[in-house]
Amino acid sequence: MRVAKKTDNRPLIELRNVSKRFGALQVLDGVDLSLRRGETTVVIGESGTGKSVLLKHIIGLLRPDSGEIWFDGQRIDTLNEQSLVPIRRRMGFLFQMAALFDSMTVGENVGFPLTEHSGLKPAQIDEIVAEKMKMVGLTGLQDRTPGQISGGQKKRVALARAIALDPEVVFYDEPTTGLDPVRADVINEMILKLKRELQVTGIVVTHDMVSAFKVGDRIVMLNKGRIIADAVPDWFRTCDDPRVRRFVDGRADKEDLRALEVG
Ligand SMILES: Nc1ncnc2c1ncn2[C@@H]1O[C@H](COP(=O)(O)OP(=O)(O)O)[C@@H](O)[C@H]1O
Ligand SMILES: [Mg+2]
Repeated sequence: MRVAKKTDNRPLIELRNVSKRFGALQVLDGVDLSLRRGETTVVIGESGTGKSVLLKHIIGLLRPDSGEIWFDGQRIDTLNEQSLVPIRRRMGFLFQMAALFDSMTVGENVGFPLTEHSGLKPAQIDEIVAEKMKMVGLTGLQDRTPGQISGGQKKRVALARAIALDPEVVFYDEPTTGLDPVRADVINEMILKLKRELQVTGIVVTHDMVSAFKVGDRIVMLNKGRIIADAVPDWFRTCDDPRVRRFVDGRADKEDLRALEVG
């Protein structure tokens, strides 16, 4: 197991003045963000505001128009695909749609990154798969197919796959969306467990404030391409910025309601 670097205060990931537009749409507009090791940072913001786009920049799936992205002291937005491979291997992804391969068993899904990248023998892979399945509370379900398990279980299988290679960072894109409150809380508990037991640095993108308050060491709010708040969760309970209140309390303002009026 990795040793926690509790005294290491250098940021693990940094975005410096990152901007990105798609056509006329300015999605990121000078984003500065630095993520500390071993912490869980939650990124909140309305649907379509650029949260997934932000994650994709850190993973290297999208390139910024301007600005820089750094990972563990190395600038990564200028790296080619091949040079990104060892960086990506240190990251685990739980994508919005927990896309499992339907033609494979659950165990094969979890073991996939190991089969592809580790060079380990099948018996060794089975052992790691069993360990990861235990971590997400799904011991013994390896031989099922994705069609034979529930939505919440699929998310947990996807999470087991995301941690197969023992990543230092795990990206969770809307991990609780579409789950009922109890199953959502199971996922929250998993995120806390990974931090506690594996010292994972977490980035959770969500619009689920219950989840944000529960798992976040820190919450960052993205609004119209900019970070408008970056603070400990408690700050979000009391701050009086109307843009923050509207989102955090889930309350439509006059403008939201006017947009709904017909004719
Ligand atoms: N590859 C792309 N090409 C064009 N537009 C995109 C692309 N990816 C995202 N967008 C647009 O950028 C905006 C932000 O998207 P996204 O980051 O997915 O939002 P969310 O905050 O809901 O995750 C949306 O308007 C979306 O349509
Ligand atoms: Mg998204």
